[in-house]
Amino acid sequence: MNISKKTLLITGANRGIGRALVDEALRRGAARVYAGVRNDFHHADARVTPLRLDVTDAAQVAHAVSRVGQLDVLVNNAAIALFDDLSDLDQIQKLLEVNVLGTMRVTQAFVPLLKHSRGAIVANLSLAAIAPVPATPGYSASKAALANMIQSLRALLGREGVSVHAAYIGPTDTDMSRGIEVQKAAPETTAQGIYDGLAEGQEDIFPDPMSRTVADAWRQSVVKMLESQFRVYLPPAKAG
Ligand SMILES: NC(=O)c1ccc[n+]([C@@H]2O[C@H](COP(=O)([O-])OP(=O)(O)OC[C@H]3O[C@@H](n4cnc5c(N)ncnc54)[C@H](OP(=O)(O)O)[C@@H]3O)[C@@H](O)[C@H]2O)c1
Repeated sequence: MNISKKTLLITGANRGIGRALVDEALRRGAARVYAGVRNDFHHADARVTPLRLDVTDAAQVAHAVSRVGQLDVLVNNAAIALFDDLSDLDQIQKLLEVNVLGTMRVTQAFVPLLKHSRGAIVANLSLAAIAPVPATPGYSASKAALANMIQSLRALLGREGVSVHAAYIGPTDTDMSRGIEVQKAAPETTAQGIYDGLAEGQEDIFPDPMSRTVADAWRQSVVKMLESQFRVYLPPAKAG
């Protein structure tokens, strides 16, 4: 999927990687970018349409669908991260509400438009979905749960012409990774890597220098082998 002349919706678009994804989409010639935000947001480029979109708010999600007439690419980027130790179930619930259920709520709401355009879904996951970062175990588990659902969605929606991509992002220099002292990619680098992977049709995208170090091992892993094998259990999609 080359995003030139395409219509995209990016959640969590006001800052960090989401904001970089907006600007990179414009640079690559996107026709329209819907910027899902929770605050007042203005972009100088007239191709950007801000959309009030808290992913935990079903009414806002439904309203966003009604405003977006046509969509080629949904980028599920919005997320929260917390330092925790798995002792506070309220924190775990909050992480799951936003990162898993919020992402699934937005995804399911836009599936009809994406089926119509035979479009693409990108989920911004994390290397923490593959192996937990023990300082952020709740966040890691939320990304692992989402990664698992994305694998199923890939099979389910692939039958209907929608491609589903997972971006396994490594440390990137945003508010989310503040205070974590590791080498980080610039958000612009990560955004470019995500669109490059999408253009190459990669189902799993490793968009930054750190994530790329595990890409080959992941693609040859037992997880990918079983993902492919388990697809045979899926009945064909119902006609209509
Ligand atoms: N930065 C990293 O090192 C890193 C590494 C791996 C994966 N990732 C993933 O990359 C994505 C972007 O992360 P980031 O680093 O850019 O994070 P960030 O700078 O913290 O930005 C998070 C974005 O998500 C939005 N958001 C949070 N809760 C929301 C909700 N309930 N509804 C709608 N929007 C909501 C925020 O909006 P507000 O401004 O309104 O709060 C903000 O726009 C996330 O999925 C993250 O898990 C990041």
